[in-house]
Amino acid sequence: MTVVDGSDAQARAARQRRGASARDVPDRGRAADGPAQLDAVEVCAWFGDTQVLEDVSLSMPPATVTALIGPSGCGKSTFLRILNRMHESVPGAQLAGEVRLDGADIYASGNRLTDVRRRIGMVFQKPNPFPAMSIAENVTAGLALTNTRVSKSERSDLVERCLVRAGLWGEVKDRLGRPGSALSGGQQQRLCIARALAVGPHVLLMDEPCSALDPTSTRRIEETIAELRTEVTIVIVTHNMQQAARVSQQAAFFLASQGSPGGIVESGATDDLFNRPVDPRTADYVHGRFG
Ligand SMILES: Nc1ncnc2c1ncn2[C@@H]1O[C@H](COP(=O)(O)OP(=O)(O)OP(=O)(O)O)[C@@H](O)[C@H]1O
Ligand SMILES: [Mg+2]
Repeated sequence: MTVVDGSDAQARAARQRRGASARDVPDRGRAADGPAQLDAVEVCAWFGDTQVLEDVSLSMPPATVTALIGPSGCGKSTFLRILNRMHESVPGAQLAGEVRLDGADIYASGNRLTDVRRRIGMVFQKPNPFPAMSIAENVTAGLALTNTRVSKSERSDLVERCLVRAGLWGEVKDRLGRPGSALSGGQQQRLCIARALAVGPHVLLMDEPCSALDPTSTRRIEETIAELRTEVTIVIVTHNMQQAARVSQQAAFFLASQGSPGGIVESGATDDLFNRPVDPRTADYVHGRFG
């Protein structure tokens, strides 16, 4: 990841980047052993010459759901994509700072992208099952992509386990050979959660996972998030304040002032952020006065 010369922020960020820890994430193939601590340290991001995030630091503790809230365009998705190294695949995109998974910098040289993505999974706004694959094949689709080896005999157990964890097993157990595209939108999103879980992530990132779903499916996904919390650290972007209050224990409010990069105004326990915000801009946002 290159950092361009230029503004003070970029130069400072470049110095921080050079000082990054060289410790690797644990060896590939290590069995998933529960939720991990994720820390973003002074993260900055650019698209070309435009800086979109400035000095974002956030600790995302294990077994905790962290909600990222804030108006459109303030950099929530960009931040989320930096957390599993998706930002670097955008042409012209750059970043600085560190992202540490259980203390180890995921950007340290020598880390394979596929290893990072196996440990830190992503669920997107629009459910995206592979339409030509069956429900069972969709669950295991990520194994080959992340070089995760599972014997044939273990496969059906894995499919069942992941569908149970994603809260979908009861609805699909009699039609595992049917195409994933034959499910409802909410079921497809839970199938995508099952697919993300199949590679044994320690962290699950979710970018507005319910925004395309009806209220009943949304509730079902929220139940799934609550059930998964003890097994995997969750970071969720949402525009729905009630959802953030229902599902998260910690929240961070992002804001980008006119012409300035986005950053965190305030973060902390969700209850504090919603009921006792320190910054008046947080109070205005959570009470729906802007954004
Ligand atoms: N691929 C890209 N190329 C150039 N600029 C981009 C790109 N993706 C995002 N941006 C810009 O980066 C800034 C942050 O965008 P981002 O998508 O992270 O915001 P967001 O908070 O997720 O917004 P929303 O709530 O609408 O999803 C915006 O100004 C956006 O226009
Ligand atoms: Mg977004």
